[in-house]
Amino acid sequence: MGDDRPDERVAPAGSVGYRAPDDGAAAEAERLAHLGALFDGPTIARLRRLGVGPGWECLEVGAGSGSVARALASLVAPTGRVVATDIDLRFLDGIDEPHVEVRRHDVATEDLPPAAFDLAHARGVLEHVRERECALARMVAATRPGGAVVVEDVDWLVFDAQELPRAFARVHRSIQDAYAASAGYDPHLGRRLPRLLERAGLVDVEAEGRVFTMIGGTASMEWYVLGIERSLPVLVDAGIVDARDAADALAEVREPACRLLSPLQVTAWGRVPRR
Ligand SMILES: C[S@@+](CC[C@H](N)C(=O)[O-])C[C@H]1O[C@@H](n2cnc3c(N)ncnc32)[C@H](O)[C@@H]1O
Repeated sequence: MGDDRPDERVAPAGSVGYRAPDDGAAAEAERLAHLGALFDGPTIARLRRLGVGPGWECLEVGAGSGSVARALASLVAPTGRVVATDIDLRFLDGIDEPHVEVRRHDVATEDLPPAAFDLAHARGVLEHVRERECALARMVAATRPGGAVVVEDVDWLVFDAQELPRAFARVHRSIQDAYAASAGYDPHLGRRLPRLLERAGLVDVEAEGRVFTMIGGTASMEWYVLGIERSLPVLVDAGIVDARDAADALAEVREPACRLLSPLQVTAWGRVPRR
């Protein structure tokens, strides 16, 4: 699966964390809804194939809007349970499912109950967490022997290898570099996942990947463009992105004729060895 060294590119100065200061709840809710619409089908299909079903106790890390937690709840009913965690509970507060418990938890710094779950799953989370190896170790420790750990993250390789609209290419590059430098974002975690899972002590590690067409003005593009839009004011103020480029970039990729290949979505899984 290629090189597993950390990304060593030098990034421009500036600070862009997981949530930018102007973080609007409505835009974030919309972005999370797009993630659910695009990625829940393949995620749930994989979890079903791994055997998730009635009675399973599941941990959903960085649950976002809770769409996967809700789907898991219906798979594990009537006797199982789902613990949905996040550092940001704004979009989980509305969950009113009998089998779902919502907890504020930072997987980068806080431990989890040991060997308490049959499944631990995180999608689009570890790529954002600088302490990702510790976070994964926590997920593994929270999973019972024989249980499954499933991690999903992107790899921007395919996306970056194609011809991108000009202003968008500059803005996308600047944002990714600034985010990697200031928040430890790993834009290539997808390719590193199998090795990461093996190093965390998991066995029977496997992975699969998916690329789809991102179409301007639709959810398939907006799941990324809304995140860019949210970060732009900070980056323009810091002089990292030119204000004209920012406006041009958004217009380019919101044009309905714009078609891009998505980054590679990698799903990797393994089992905690039985003692
Ligand atoms: C890209 S969103 C993905 C949301 C959801 N997993 C999905 O795929 O629809 C990343 C989520 O990870 C959460 N997150 C980021 N850092 C975290 C941390 N250290 N501990 C727990 N959650 C975290 C964010 O608040 C956000 O909800």
